[in-house]
Amino acid sequence: MSLSKICLLTAVSWAGLTAGLSTRHANIKRQVSQLRGSYDFVIVGGGTSGLTVADRLSEAFPLKTVLVVEYGDVQYAPGSFDPPADWYGPNSFQSAPLWVFFSQPNPEYNNLTALTFAGQVVGGSSAVNGQFFDRPSRFDLDSWTQLGVSSDWNWRGMFPYFRKSIKFTAPSSQVAQQYNYTWDLSSYGGTTPIHASFPPFQWADNQAVLNGWREMGVRQRQDCAGGDKEGLCAVPTSGHPVTAKRSHAGLGHYADVVGTRSNFDLLAKHQAVRVVYPNGVNSGPPTLEVRSLVSEARFNITANAEIVLSAGAFHTPTVLLRSGIGAANVLSSAGIEQILELPGVGANLQDHPGSTGVAWEYTKPGNWTPMPEEMADPTFKADATAGWNEVPARGPYTMALGNQAIYISLPNTTPNYPAIIRKILKQTADGSAASFLPADYRDNTALVKGYKDQLVTLSKLLRNPKVPSLETPWSTGYSTAAILLHPLSRGTVRLNLTDHLAQPIVDTRHGSNPVDFDMQLANVRWSRRLLDTPTMKRYGAVETAPGPAVQSDAELLAFIKSAATLSYQHPCCTAALGPKDRGGVVDNKLRVHGAKGLRVVDISVLPLVISAHTSSTAYALGEKAADIIIKEWTP
Ligand SMILES: Cc1cc2nc3c(=O)[nH]c(=O)nc-3n(C[C@H](O)[C@H](O)[C@H](O)COP(=O)(O)OP(=O)(O)OC[C@H]3O[C@@H](n4cnc5c(N)ncnc54)[C@H](O)[C@@H]3O)c2cc1C
Ligand SMILES: *[C@@H]1O[C@H](CO)[C@@H](O)[C@H](O)[C@H]1NC(C)=O
Ligand SMILES: *[C@@H]1O[C@H](CO)[C@@H](O)[C@H](O)[C@H]1NC(C)=O
Ligand SMILES: *[C@@H]1O[C@H](CO)[C@@H](O)[C@H](O)[C@H]1NC(C)=O
Ligand SMILES: *[C@@H]1O[C@H](CO)[C@@H](O)[C@H](O)[C@H]1NC(C)=O
Repeated sequence: MSLSKICLLTAVSWAGLTAGLSTRHANIKRQVSQLRGSYDFVIVGGGTSGLTVADRLSEAFPLKTVLVVEYGDVQYAPGSFDPPADWYGPNSFQSAPLWVFFSQPNPEYNNLTALTFAGQVVGGSSAVNGQFFDRPSRFDLDSWTQLGVSSDWNWRGMFPYFRKSIKFTAPSSQVAQQYNYTWDLSSYGGTTPIHASFPPFQWADNQAVLNGWREMGVRQRQDCAGGDKEGLCAVPTSGHPVTAKRSHAGLGHYADVVGTRSNFDLLAKHQAVRVVYPNGVNSGPPTLEVRSLVSEARFNITANAEIVLSAGAFHTPTVLLRSGIGAANVLSSAGIEQILELPGVGANLQDHPGSTGVAWEYTKPGNWTPMPEEMADPTFKADATAGWNEVPARGPYTMALGNQAIYISLPNTTPNYPAIIRKILKQTADGSAASFLPADYRDNTALVKGYKDQLVTLSKLLRNPKVPSLETPWSTGYSTAAILLHPLSRGTVRLNLTDHLAQPIVDTRHGSNPVDFDMQLANVRWSRRLLDTPTMKRYGAVETAPGPAVQSDAELLAFIKSAATLSYQHPCCTAALGPKDRGGVVDNKLRVHGAKGLRVVDISVLPLVISAHTSSTAYALGEKAADIIIKEWTP
């Protein structure tokens, strides 16, 4: 299983929409005429963070009204492995409720384009993602204070919300023993029906590679959800512990609660166009202008208390830019009148890029069974499908993408890490840092200052042996992925100049800071050592990629570029937390600097991409933001 396939396999076919959902969502609105005259809270985007906020606000304030405006609709959201249209069969993108983003061709990667998705559905990306439910390292969040973010957002400040945001159910002791799953219950404790659990299935070759890593000295962690995760981790799946069906915000924070909340409305099939401040940015909340996707008609929606933008890392900046909130040069090139100078809007784009780490063939196969190839056998597949429909569910379909990963720090990846750290610090000392930024923000003092602070902060993170720099998720197969967790390159999200409502122009700019390639080289060199371990030698593992002929840095770099995956589906950071004079877009209460009654609550607010996949953090952000908002509006 190649990891580039993992990116794609989440885009499964949506055949077999279940009947009966319409009654479960009886109060969904599809026309503005069905709405109330005004709402206290208006949330833009019914995704992972947005629905978390909407659920908590409507629960806390029975007398206040909450409206969620969502571009997509309610749709059945299967998991990555659900039969019959699973990724072992032909994938279909046609009917998937997905936003698709093709980035600008990347000159550092032979003009490769990053392919990124997002959920276009009630539930957002949590309804289409790979269900891999890991959490960041405590050091990720603790580093934000060095960027001017309040210590409210450090690990101690956020951990209670990570705990609250999901309901973890332990597997049976038999399953735990069989697959070596370990955990620490004190990392969990939530009761909300966003489920996390470990599946009762692994492919039979799974242990070979895990043992190889142990032989390389990777330490097996008992728990990785409590802030310390350098090592080998068992990672929960966001699925139901008994049925194994996908758990997501559209269920746990909407369908499961909305029946008892007469104050919670959802307007589907409408695009938020912009916020409008008729009397200036100091006089909020603004009005929300929306567009019907059916009639194209536009309407204004009145918010009495505030508007919360939760449209995700690519679309939240588009709403801000269309509203006239952003950098003067960016807005003027789009012909939009500026109402607020905030250069961080659509800047600071980050994601996890990576490449194949190592690929091999076993010349002395382990005669493992079951293996994914067996899904081609009709009898095996029929049994797998039957198992999926049993209660409790069993078999391969319960596993989603896999449940293990290693997270290795830079010092544990390469003894040459001090040279890499020195290069980063040299960029900030000699001023060359700015030259790696997009041309049109090099002369913006706030963005350059923010970036230099980030590089200094990253130099500290990366030399810490407890902070992961490389991630390799694992379930089965003949190759590994080497994912770069803390890239230094920064990209942009801008409006399409001819059609502001179309998909934005995304430029990931991966590799624009050359130190990213030093780290990728270290990651691939480290990954190759797997094949030297006794376990892999026992099975006669022979390297097929990069391949024995590829040895020099130049050869290896060419390999990395040819085997690159430019997006592991974790775009973030385009409306970052932080002071305005360092490129921040939102303050410590997630209020857009200088704009009354307007907040951003989604994965855009991260200042730096984390050492983890991003959904657990999107939920935790929603929980913490809801607490902030509830406190503010409680008399
Ligand atoms: C294919 C894929 C696989 C992934 N795999 C994993 C994984 O295995 N593990 C993991 O932890 N993370 C994974 N992620 C990432 C994770 O799911 C996201 O980072 C997270 O869910 C983002 O949450 P969010 O609230 O910021 O945005 P979203 O959940 O994307 O919500 C944004 C919502 O806003 C709506 N919207 C956008 N623009 C507008 C507008 N103008 N008007 C109205 N509505 C609008 C969208 O339709 C969407 O519903 C994956 C993501 C994808 C796309
Ligand atoms: C990438 O595209 C640019 C612009 O079209 C072109 O000049 C350049 O030669 C291309 N590079 C490669 C490696 O194809
Ligand atoms: C379980 O983990 C131990 C090391 O912690 C390892 O030696 C053993 O092979 C593993 N067994 C299985 C079945 O995973
Ligand atoms: C929304 O309100 C603004 C400000 O009052 C106005 O300029 C705009 O035309 C309105 N839009 C619609 C669709 O009514
Ligand atoms: C911008 O939008 C127009 C109209 O939808 C589309 O034809 C064009 O390809 C888009 N431009 C880019 C660079 O994506």
